[in-house]
Amino acid sequence: MHKIDIDLVNMTLDVMKYAIDRISVIEPKIGVPQKAEDLKALVGETVTAKGIGGEVAFNLWKEHLVKANVSIDHPRHLAFVPASPTRAAIMFDLVTSASSIHGAYWMEGAGGIFCENEAMKWIVSLTGLPEGAFGVFTSGGTAANLSAIVTAREYWRSLNDKNKSEKGIIITSIGAHSSVKAMAKVVDVDVLLVDTEDKLEADALQSTIDKLTPHQRQRLFAVVGTGGTTNAGIIDDLSGIATICKKEHLWFHIDAAYGGGALAADSVRHLFNGIEKADSITIDPHKWMFSPYDCGAVIYKNPELAKEAHSQQGSYLDIFKDEGAHGFNPSDYQIQLTRRVRGLPLWFSLAMHGTDRYKEAVERGLELAQIAGRLINEKPHVELVRDPSLSCVLYRRIGWKPEDYTHWTYENHKKGFALVTPTKWKKGESFETVSRFCFINPDTTEKDIEMILDSMI
Ligand SMILES: Cc1ncc(COP(=O)(O)O)c(C=O)c1O
Repeated sequence: MHKIDIDLVNMTLDVMKYAIDRISVIEPKIGVPQKAEDLKALVGETVTAKGIGGEVAFNLWKEHLVKANVSIDHPRHLAFVPASPTRAAIMFDLVTSASSIHGAYWMEGAGGIFCENEAMKWIVSLTGLPEGAFGVFTSGGTAANLSAIVTAREYWRSLNDKNKSEKGIIITSIGAHSSVKAMAKVVDVDVLLVDTEDKLEADALQSTIDKLTPHQRQRLFAVVGTGGTTNAGIIDDLSGIATICKKEHLWFHIDAAYGGGALAADSVRHLFNGIEKADSITIDPHKWMFSPYDCGAVIYKNPELAKEAHSQQGSYLDIFKDEGAHGFNPSDYQIQLTRRVRGLPLWFSLAMHGTDRYKEAVERGLELAQIAGRLINEKPHVELVRDPSLSCVLYRRIGWKPEDYTHWTYENHKKGFALVTPTKWKKGESFETVSRFCFINPDTTEKDIEMILDSMI
């Protein structure tokens, strides 16, 4: 398996050709999932004692299996938070794999970690956090939020012995991403939700804190604000929340997994004012910084606190902490030990294109949301639910019931035309099913948006 022979050389050429073709395609097929039993019927037994051979396995992938995946970079894939990695970043993802780098410790991955840190410096500079702030790349926003909550919880426990036996509490709003609530479960802390999917305002946060019992107040250690909600692109009152967190001695984490890319855009940067006062921030380069999956990031105002929470100890690890191996060890600052240098593709793309091109590409996503808003206002069969925020647009098809949205989504997907999924928006005490666009891909055109809207007539 580890020898180089002619079969391996041929396979390498085939794989490279496939990768080049996929990287250079302008409009990939959107792809539609199939049931596992149908896929099994198409490909048969693939893992056998003697192997089916690389050529056969690769053909099965090309003919059947790849088609059962959605190409997240399709210009009419506007569901969830899409992605649109640069071609340079994808190419360097191949280089990252081929280079076999262990990215946990400087001793083994110095060159790769150096590159990651150069990219990280740019991301940190966008936040305006003070000197000394720094971060690491994680597998995504979920892992970044988890790493930050663990750091905050450990810091709170270190402040007072009484906190060591207490179950912590964090406050966020219902607009926060599902991963915040899920990660609180992992950490075993309770979550208090301020009942708004709109901007979390300082007053609402303060009155939630004021209503706590003395015991709950003792257990409260952090507030999670959102820098671009997943559903609607809303940015909380980061400055007001920061002021309260300072006054109340609470950790302030900002989940900007989706919205963080917009820090690079001059037109909306002011909406994030206050982010520079956070204790920790999540930003996902695999969302709006055009990295391939998977690449999240967690940034700390004081990385030493993260190190105290996350640094793993073991006699087999001592060498990594020795003076001779001295350098930045990413595994000290988040939950993972062995890790891919997943910031390396971003570094290459940033180095190749320069940060101005990133700015322009993010501005295009914001512009597409405005274009969609204008088109929706012009067309009689659709209307905006709220003004576009960042690159999210919520709109309704007048007269449609929830099942009409679902049916339309499936029909467009089956045809290979588009993937746009419904969501819900709170209207008074009830939730309305609406349609949602999220723009990331700068290759999406006005015509794409128009065609999607017209398919609702
Ligand atoms: C605001 C926000 N936070 C966290 C996440 C989770 O990120 P990931 O899927 O990379 O774990 C998402 C994903 O869409 C998100 O939009």
